[in-house]
Amino acid sequence: MFETLKQQPADKILALMQLYKEDPRDTKIDLGVGVYKDATGLTPVMRAIKAAEHQLWETQDSKVYTGLAGDPAFGDAMIDLVLAGAVPRANIAAAATPGGTGACRQTFELIQMANPDARVFVSNPTWPNHISMLGYLGVEVVHYRYFDEETCGVDFDGLIADLKTAKKGDVVLLHGCCHNPTGANLNSAEWDEVIKVLLETGATPMIDIAYQGFGEGLDEDAAATRKVAAAVPECIIAASCSKNFGIYRERTGLLMVVSANAGAQALNQGTLAYLNRQNFSFPPDHGARLVTMILNDPALRADWQTELEVVRQSMLGLRSQLAAELQRFSGSDRFGFLAQHRGMFSRLGTSPEMVEKLRVEHGIYMVGDSRMNIAGLNAQTVPILAKAIVDAGI
Ligand code: LMR
Repeated sequence: MFETLKQQPADKILALMQLYKEDPRDTKIDLGVGVYKDATGLTPVMRAIKAAEHQLWETQDSKVYTGLAGDPAFGDAMIDLVLAGAVPRANIAAAATPGGTGACRQTFELIQMANPDARVFVSNPTWPNHISMLGYLGVEVVHYRYFDEETCGVDFDGLIADLKTAKKGDVVLLHGCCHNPTGANLNSAEWDEVIKVLLETGATPMIDIAYQGFGEGLDEDAAATRKVAAAVPECIIAASCSKNFGIYRERTGLLMVVSANAGAQALNQGTLAYLNRQNFSFPPDHGARLVTMILNDPALRADWQTELEVVRQSMLGLRSQLAAELQRFSGSDRFGFLAQHRGMFSRLGTSPEMVEKLRVEHGIYMVGDSRMNIAGLNAQTVPILAKAIVDAGI
């Protein structure tokens, strides 16, 4: 029967990972997949994770099933990290999921269950897997303007005009911080405008927050999510622990549905548990347990925050260095936006042909839309990248 299958399109980011692996050049630079690397090129296990794993190994005496929505303590700890009391706990339904991707995927199914005619508005561009999963599920996608190719910032007027065309029953997918793939983000006043449009149209916001702590800081990066959740009657939040806890392969995420009242919360909670059961039954527990231990232990938490801050500062340092080197090589300020962008990624704003040229001639790997993983750089590779960009005529 399987001869009927068709070749599926390769995921752009994962295909690039493979190409990089196969490149024999020892000068190659990987700016593809969104994984943090330290100055030595390693993606380390964070100290607090190691300590929690050690503790867990000594104390865990059973691996019996948890609950369909995961361990409630994980939900509580993450709700506090992301929302910090912005909405009453009694109004929030939550379920652990396999990573932030799992939270997005469960959200899309939830949307389909609630309204088969829902359209999901996504930024142009957005994380490619958003579009891929929505397409797979047959959910209608509407692209709203987001990236301004001229300034490499946000096309805010375009964004607002497009979001105004949403209606009740539609969903607007927003990136809580550190926009992937562009690195261009809304400021606080712009978020207020977005909230106004959401209230006017009645569309439901879905916030994907996968990089809390990578932009301006843990609380600063969650500020927009908290503001939206507090302002609208209903909202969905898909949170990932992959990056800020460095536990990529453990698949740790949380889907939160903020409801208008505790009655609606009970229905939503039951639906999230049902959806988990249909797709994978109990969610993975190991990463979620480590996160819970860290967030609930003051010493582990303090150490995690310290290490996360080092990660954040190192990305900021690389951004400034790259902008300065590009200024030096090009003699122009046209790359200044790189220092303004936040998070792991920046979109350089060049053509796929130029991206290909950088890969073939210089062994520099970035996603075809010119998304660079800033955390893939180090102090030595920044000048090499800057020179290659200018030499290529970008
Ligand atoms: C990325 O955008 O590179 C990451 O979120 C990894 C992934 O799964 O694509």
